[in-house]
Amino acid sequence: SKTSNIFLKNIHIKINQNPHFSKFSPSPLSMKQFLDFGSINACEKTSFVFLRQELPVRLSNIMKEINLLPDRLLTTPSVQMVQSWYIQSLMEILHFLDKNPDDHRVLGEFVDALVTIRNRHNDVVPTMAQGIIEYKEAFPQDVVTNQNIQYFLDRFYMSRISIRMLINQHTLIFDGTTNPVHPNTIGSIDPHCQVGDVVQDAFHSAKMLCDQYYLRSPDLVLQEMNKKSNHPISIVYVPSHLYHMLFELFKNAMRATIETHESSNNLPPIQVLVSLGGEDMSIKVSDRGGGVAFRRIENLFSYLYSTAPAPQIGEHTRPPLAGFGYGLPISRLYAKYFQGDLQLYTMEGYGTDAVIYLKALSTDSIERLPVYNKTALKNYKVSQEADDWCVPSKEPLDLSSYKVAKAK
Ligand SMILES: Nc1ncnc2c1ncn2[C@@H]1O[C@H](COP(=O)(O)OP(=O)(O)OP(=O)(O)O)[C@@H](O)[C@H]1O
Ligand SMILES: [Mg+2]
Repeated sequence: SKTSNIFLKNIHIKINQNPHFSKFSPSPLSMKQFLDFGSINACEKTSFVFLRQELPVRLSNIMKEINLLPDRLLTTPSVQMVQSWYIQSLMEILHFLDKNPDDHRVLGEFVDALVTIRNRHNDVVPTMAQGIIEYKEAFPQDVVTNQNIQYFLDRFYMSRISIRMLINQHTLIFDGTTNPVHPNTIGSIDPHCQVGDVVQDAFHSAKMLCDQYYLRSPDLVLQEMNKKSNHPISIVYVPSHLYHMLFELFKNAMRATIETHESSNNLPPIQVLVSLGGEDMSIKVSDRGGGVAFRRIENLFSYLYSTAPAPQIGEHTRPPLAGFGYGLPISRLYAKYFQGDLQLYTMEGYGTDAVIYLKALSTDSIERLPVYNKTALKNYKVSQEADDWCVPSKEPLDLSSYKVAKAK
């Protein structure tokens, strides 16, 4: 481990002496560009030449931000591990910079390298979450550090989503096979993603988990509103991303429904409304699970507040409907990745509406990527300042002293 430390230090120095790639901004791709990379005239060579430049740019941009984390977090074993994966993967891609794109062996090796990299990074989210837990346990929390960590993790996980998207497209399109289940998909993109079908799939999976854990589950009522035609609503999208968001929303809605109707024989159904307009394709998931206090909404999207109670990695007894508390924040990132959003509207005492907003038109679906620059740097340097709104005091003000003063 001592030699590997020296090894990593050397790489560190190399990368820092050659800040080349973090000087470039990532190039966001549109849905159309993703499709073009995978259409009939798909050119593996073009994709290879693009990725050997773009992947290092995206990796080193976010690695710059990892380095800006508070030392006490950066030096946890978990974050060190994640950082070493990024360094290793960056090195492996840089290795292809001077290779000949016309050599078929090179293209084959590149696909293999991407698969290795994807597997290496499989556990980034739970490992990073572990680092946050270690940090939380060891150090008192302050608001500014918490904000910085939230800011960082949103950008870090978004960067990861985008890097995996690029890797998946290349490996799926150029591994020489077609997808036997979905022959019309282009990599992970379905040009005719049937939203209702994905809703049904995700609901079904959540329902199975819910039945296992609670021995019952609410039903689904699904409705579609298509302003343009009578056809089922479809968009150009990544079905696995949509599935991920809906699955998380359904798990939450089911848990809330069951826990607030524990003593009741029938459960109110979960209602889903899919609606297609000229600009937006929106999906509303409504439950009658009692809602959440308005004050808590922001915390539900926080990586820091919701990590407790901490599930242990590999633990088998954890409740399947709730884990690290990353369900909502990560789902919102998936929605934002192609210029959408995810918002909660909740009424404490009644229930919650969660709405996923996606772009209806593929021309509007363009990657939303973090870039490391002066503004980002400034966001890590904010310090704690006094609030410019009064803090309400806990003790009731003793108004009698005013009375006395007035009487004088
Ligand atoms: N529909 C809902 N009704 C009531 N509370 C909700 C609802 N959705 C989310 N919450 C609250 O928000 C918290 C955070 O949700 P989130 O999905 O991010 O994490 P989690 O469900 O705790 O864990 P997991 O990572 O497994 O999803 C939940 O623990 C729950 O208290
Ligand atoms: Mg959840």
